[in-house]
Amino acid sequence: MGIGKKLLLSGVKPTGRPHIGNYFGAMKQFVALQSEYDSIFFIADYHALTTLHDPVKLAEYTLGVALDYLAIGLDPKRALIFKQSDIPAHTELAWIFNCITAMPYLLRGHAYKDAEAKNEEVTVGTFDYPMLMAADILLYDTDVVPVGQDQKQHLEFARDTAEKFNRLFGETFKLPEPHIVSEVAAVPGLDGRKMSKSYDNTIPLFADDDEIERLVMSIVTDSKGEREPKDPAADTVFALHRLVSAGQLDELKKRYEEGTIGYKESKEILAENMKKFAAPLREKRRELEEKPEYAKDALAQGAEVARKKSEEKMKEVRRKVGVAL
Ligand code: AMP
Ligand code: TRP
Repeated sequence: MGIGKKLLLSGVKPTGRPHIGNYFGAMKQFVALQSEYDSIFFIADYHALTTLHDPVKLAEYTLGVALDYLAIGLDPKRALIFKQSDIPAHTELAWIFNCITAMPYLLRGHAYKDAEAKNEEVTVGTFDYPMLMAADILLYDTDVVPVGQDQKQHLEFARDTAEKFNRLFGETFKLPEPHIVSEVAAVPGLDGRKMSKSYDNTIPLFADDDEIERLVMSIVTDSKGEREPKDPAADTVFALHRLVSAGQLDELKKRYEEGTIGYKESKEILAENMKKFAAPLREKRRELEEKPEYAKDALAQGAEVARKKSEEKMKEVRRKVGVAL
């Protein structure tokens, strides 16, 4: 890793197929930033375990994220890539953070409150999710964390936890900054809500052409007729055009405002552009799928380096809290 470069770290939860919200909101930034920073991209499998209790699926999705990372262009020679569960220091540090964090503070968590509101059976892991995430980040003296808007509160929890630890035990952890690209901070899904695996409103990043077409044509719009003026800012189809229709945006905007394009035609254009964008990524992923050993080896090698780095930090932490004799 380079000398004097800042450290960038982010993670993705293996809970399903990645979607274009994940890609444009976070993963695309990973690729763009991997050379500018010393970078760590890991797979948050213990975070996925808070809600996913199917071992076959968890393993499949975990390898899946590794393939996704490689297919979009993350390079294990430039960035450290590993899975969280291979590095015991993450859960160890999360426990230490549990012991200095007040219950009422974590009760403010959006993710926890959402799960409660849905009357789901909330696991202790879901409640404690922010502490494991704080450990993921703080363990490596991270400077910058590229994420979508929905992770902003988790970043604040990580900063607060670093400050609390530093106050109690002396200067130990850096305060990380979020890196949120505002235009893509919250990509809308087929129903207009935030695109999310848990809302079942996604366009998977590696969808095939038929699936892309079917999903794009099912995007919910208002009922304005073909010849009525439309507000591009209020339309989900247009919001997705912003991601994949760069060269046509001005013209589309004009046609929306003049009322010379219907939603059906707008969706057809979007489907075409989305297919063009997805094809090379899908092809690359297919090649990688055929030799999963490559991805598994990359994870194993990444884990070895991450274990060493994290163990150094943990020595300091154990000494500071008083468990090292
Ligand atoms: P997850 O799959 O929940 O681990 O999310 C991976 C990354 O994608 C995180 O940085 C999220 O903030 C980001 N993300 C998820 N959904 C969206 C969305 N609809 N728009 C923008 N970013 C998103
Ligand atoms: N909570 C993140 C998400 O749902 C995933 C994640 C876990 C993460 N640990 C992290 C992201 C550390 C950035 C840094 O998307």
